[in-house]
Amino acid sequence: MMAFEDRAIDVEPLIAGSALQRRIDELAEAIAKDMPPTMVVVGILTGSFVFVADLVRALDRHGLAPDVRFVQLASYFDGTESTGEVQVLGSLSGSFEGRAVLVVDDIQDTGRTLAMAKRILEDRGAKHVRTCALLDKPSRRVLEFQADYVGFTIPDVFVVGYGIDYAERFRHLPYIGQINGD
Ligand code: IMP
Ligand code: MG
Repeated sequence: MMAFEDRAIDVEPLIAGSALQRRIDELAEAIAKDMPPTMVVVGILTGSFVFVADLVRALDRHGLAPDVRFVQLASYFDGTESTGEVQVLGSLSGSFEGRAVLVVDDIQDTGRTLAMAKRILEDRGAKHVRTCALLDKPSRRVLEFQADYVGFTIPDVFVVGYGIDYAERFRHLPYIGQINGD
């Protein structure tokens, strides 16, 4: 038993790496029909980093040449409930004035992160902001907000892998897995 593993966590494969790649290519094809070639992709850290890496290369195959930026957002909590206030951490320097922007996150859950990211970029002058989530858990939504592009709709299960973590673990998995029980 490794000292740093305090307990075994069962990760059950949910979406295979090959299925992710096929779906990302379809998403890129749809995005390429709607967005100008010189748009900006803004990934929301940390969970989107693997998805963004694959998505921008798929966008290249479909003729787009996006700038790639990342932003880290922090949600503020009032007791146990998110207040919906989201602040930009770190730098999101440079101008978005007049730019078309695709905001990319790993999972759309309550909807707050993508909704807030969209507002922040519009406040910074972005002209045409679209949103994209690899995974969508519609049963968890608290806002009337829907990402423009969604890879897979999933039930209310806790997922990891392909950039998505459980307490910083499992981001390295090349597939999406579901955590069972505890
Ligand atoms: P929301 O849509 O603002 O509620 O935020 C979605 C964020 O919640 C995602 O970017 C993830 O960081 C996190 N999240 C939601 N569901 C899961 C999950 O199943 N596993 C890991 N992180 C999750
Ligand atoms: Mg996240």
